[in-house]
Amino acid sequence: MSGLRNFNENDIPTMLSLSNKHMEFDQLTEVLLREKILEDPAYNPDLVFLYEINGEMIGYIAGVTRDIRGEKIGYVKLMVVAQPYRRQGYGTELYHALEDKFKELGMEKVRVYDVPFNYFMPGIDPRYTPALAFFETMGFERFGDTSNLTVDLLNQTFDTQEEEKQLLGQGIEIRRANYEDREALLEFIHEHFDLWRYEVLNAYNSLPIAIHIAIHQGKIKAFSAHNGNNFGTGWFGPMGTHPDLRGKGIGSILLKRCLQDMKDWGLEKSIIPWVGPIRFYSYYVNAMVERVFWRYEKKI
Ligand SMILES: CC(C)(COP(=O)(O)OP(=O)(O)OC[C@H]1O[C@@H](n2cnc3c(N)ncnc32)[C@H](O)[C@@H]1OP(=O)(O)O)[C@@H](O)C(=O)NCCC(=O)NCCS
Repeated sequence: MSGLRNFNENDIPTMLSLSNKHMEFDQLTEVLLREKILEDPAYNPDLVFLYEINGEMIGYIAGVTRDIRGEKIGYVKLMVVAQPYRRQGYGTELYHALEDKFKELGMEKVRVYDVPFNYFMPGIDPRYTPALAFFETMGFERFGDTSNLTVDLLNQTFDTQEEEKQLLGQGIEIRRANYEDREALLEFIHEHFDLWRYEVLNAYNSLPIAIHIAIHQGKIKAFSAHNGNNFGTGWFGPMGTHPDLRGKGIGSILLKRCLQDMKDWGLEKSIIPWVGPIRFYSYYVNAMVERVFWRYEKKI
């Protein structure tokens, strides 16, 4: 049997070995691949296509959709064609099958990899140079870039006791979130950072809960979370401080508390993805740019 077909859950192990053999700069695990595909909150098996030649899987494309502030966007979340089969049109067939579905579903544009709140990478790492050429040929345009930072957890400490004492003097308490805080935290996020709800809910699944908060006059005014995406990889974020309380050092404490959690879990480094305020992370925890990603978009 040769040609395109739809995905089912039993394909995950083959997709995993295909990815790990043919994506030169990344290694997935089964847990991560399942998280990226099956555990996406908008998972739709009709948006995942495989290509087989004589029964052997030689490529796949995994897509997903989002409604981002009223805009309907289709995303390529993962895509691989096995090296011996490249430049023979299989990527094009896979992409067109997905784009046709996006059109049927009323998507206005397509983006590559930077899927809010459940993504493997926030764009294309330009070292995957054939992918840049491929998406440009498919009609995409580059509209920006972003980066993942890395923090060395072994060779620095993240003690925040002194700063926390000072904040307490100003009536601001910093502590780990608990289950009783959940509704208030979700309300705070809904008001100020609505796209981050899903990752925060995921961070509630860690033990201890991978979320720290700042409270002022009985109300949550800032939070930081980790392990809400790419489970177990040291993935930091999201974090946010209410505009009225910015500039008081709350963010740096909340960041360091998350990094200390990861250090306690035995991780050697943390990834601060899809940044954003590079200066902030570099200043407080010596974060370094580890990878750069180019972001692409196509109107359909
Ligand atoms: C990106 C990828 C999926 C493309 O798959 P593919 O099956 O080789 O793509 P196609 O054969 O359909 O290529 C279609 C067109 O894209 C362009 N293209 C693809 N690879 C190219 C390359 N290495 N150099 C220049 N142009 C290229 C060409 O215009 C090509 O048409 P042509 O061969 O008639 O000139 C494949 O290179 C891959 O799996 N890369 C590694 C994983 C990866 O980077 N995934 C995507 C990250 S977002």
